[in-house]
Parts: sequence; C-alpha cells; structure tokens
Amino acid sequence: MDITELILEDHHQQRRMFALLEDTAPSNTHALGIVWHRLCTALEVHAAAEEELFYPHLLKLGTGVGDESVDDEVIDVIKDHNEIRDAIGESAGQSPGSDAWWAAVRKTNKANSEHMAEEEREDLTDFRRNAPLQLRHDIAVAFATFEAEHLRGVVVTDRDPKRYVAEHR
Ligand SMILES: [Fe+2]
Ligand SMILES: [Fe+2]
Repeated sequence: MDITELILEDHHQQRRMFALLEDTAPSNTHALGIVWHRLCTALEVHAAAEEELFYPHLLKLGTGVGDESVDDEVIDVIKDHNEIRDAIGESAGQSPGSDAWWAAVRKTNKANSEHMAEEEREDLTDFRRNAPLQLRHDIAVAFATFEAEHLRGVVVTDRDPKRYVAEHR
C-alpha cells in the first residue's frame, strides 16, 4: 500500500459521489439525502485522517514545492479543510433538494475540488519525493485502519492552521 495512492483513491470516490448527486433525479430527495450524508462523512473522516496521520509526516520530511515552503503548504491545507467542514455545515437543517441545500453542496464541491487539486499537485508530490516507500506503506495501513474505525464519522472540529503546524513540526 502507499498513502499517496490511497489519498488519490479517496479523492476519486469523493468526485464520484458528487457526480452521483448530479445524476440523481431532483424529486428523489430521499436518495439525495442519503448520498449526501455518506459523502459528508467521507469528506470529514478523510480530512481528519490526513490531519492525524499524513500531514505530521509531511511537515517533518517535506521540502516544499516550487517557491512554497512545506509550512505554508500545510497552513493552506488546514485552511481548506476548515472551509470544506464549514461548507458542509451550511447544509445542516436544510431539506435535501432545496435551493439552500444545493447551494451548500455546490460550495462544498468547489472548496473540495480546489483543495484536492492543490493537495495532489503539491503535498502528494512533496511526499513522493521525500518519504521512503516503507513509511508510505505504514501510513497507508494506519490511514485505512482509521477510516475503518470511523465509518460512522468523526467529531468535526476546525483547527487553527498556524497552531497545527507549530504543534506537528
Ligand atoms: Fe485529501
Ligand atoms: Fe486534504
């Protein structure tokens, strides 16, 4: 296993679930609600697993990509994760299929799409360049275990980006 591959796979599943919402008949509000609930849980657990198990290692081993330092990369990540969690939060209490609900879904999709692109382009690149294969394997096993342990979700908390970096340096 390889953590960089596992993260890419999760991202693919997230993109597929957003596409599934678009493919669901607007009148099928039951399906929209069920799929959205599953997607929100997947997004929140994925971000928590990255914060718990991937980014602390990137902070120690990464050297940055382009002219951005690894600290700045990870500050951006935590800001993005907070933005995704907050966008998901805007759907709370809205009826699946309603205009307000779709607005929250679209906002989450946009924030997540932009975040995944940056994460793939910068953070996964930095890790592939600097982390040994055995560590990539070990983190992947821990990451998959974390996700299996939290199938029903995690307690959602925004983090302070600079404090996160300082604590995991
Ligand atoms: Fe990710
Ligand atoms: Fe992420």
